Amino acid sequence: GGSIKATLFPGDGIGPEIAESVKKIFDAVKVQVEWDVHFVGKTVDPKTGSYITWDSMESVRQCGIGLKGPMATPIGKGHKSLNLTLRKELGLYANVRPCLSIPGYKTRYDNVDLITIRENTEGEYSGLEHQVVKGVVESLKIITHNASKRIAEYAFHYAKLHGRKRVSAIHKANIMKKTDGLFLQCCREVAEKYSDIVYEEVIIDNCCMMLVKNPGLFDVLVMPNLYGDIISDLCAGLIGGLGLTPSGNIGDKGLALMEAVHGTAPDIAGKNLANPTAILLSAVMMLQHLKLDESAELIHKSVLKTIAEEKCLTGDLGGSATCSDYTKAIIDNLGG
Ligand code: IPM
Ligand code: MN
Repeated sequence: GGSIKATLFPGDGIGPEIAESVKKIFDAVKVQVEWDVHFVGKTVDPKTGSYITWDSMESVRQCGIGLKGPMATPIGKGHKSLNLTLRKELGLYANVRPCLSIPGYKTRYDNVDLITIRENTEGEYSGLEHQVVKGVVESLKIITHNASKRIAEYAFHYAKLHGRKRVSAIHKANIMKKTDGLFLQCCREVAEKYSDIVYEEVIIDNCCMMLVKNPGLFDVLVMPNLYGDIISDLCAGLIGGLGLTPSGNIGDKGLALMEAVHGTAPDIAGKNLANPTAILLSAVMMLQHLKLDESAELIHKSVLKTIAEEKCLTGDLGGSATCSDYTKAIIDNLGG
């Protein structure tokens, strides 16, 4: 059949190596995806004033789906993070990060199974900071009814679709009465429509403590932008870190950009030492999003099997395999 076009941003540092791993595995599985590859991060595009070219953003809009590796934020005044630019320009309002224990990769916790759903467009990420007078600076945290309602709807819809039982709204409304108060109000409004899902509100500091003591207390967590940034890292830490955690940015009409959240690891870039797991699991998320469930399942199982076998792991997972050895091991395990 005809193949699906998807944008691929290999990204900076180890990005191209881990993106290559995805390509090889997709080829081995004969996934019906044709990549539209865009290397961003070299020159400023006059049309956008950004390091992200208009072309590359248009590619995601046209394809409706994309995968990205890590991108370095250009150094120098006035350059916004490329990650944030993509989220904003493409209207990717929901950030979904599943944190599931990886069988065979031992951490202090067993059976972690958490989904963080982060509002991805506003809050402290609105980019509105200025000096009031010398020695006093101000940052505006924007919370709107529209964006809060939209992310709450997304979270409950997700929970229902995936058979999850509980949605926890994470907040600091005891202090941020207006902003987080509005966020909670929106969550409550949506919760009322989902009588079969338990809804609770947890203050963020307490949430951190509870997550570290017993991650099993939570299921789906929904929260404003900055809290989601922090809590999703905490959750990733419970299962082994950002090297093992997929992430998806979702917008309207199914527009989606999956990404590896970890950094560009310049120290090991170009040395064939990187662990591609995060981008591979993000690619699995991408396939699920495209309803290519069989291919998704095949790749997912093989990645997990390869990690559980402990025969061929990259350095960060305690092994000594190269990125391409590990990729080959995954391909060899595709048969089951
Ligand atoms: C993430 C990252 C980004 C964020 C950075 C790179 C801008 O930490 O995706 O969580 O803060 O959102
Ligand atoms: Mn982050």
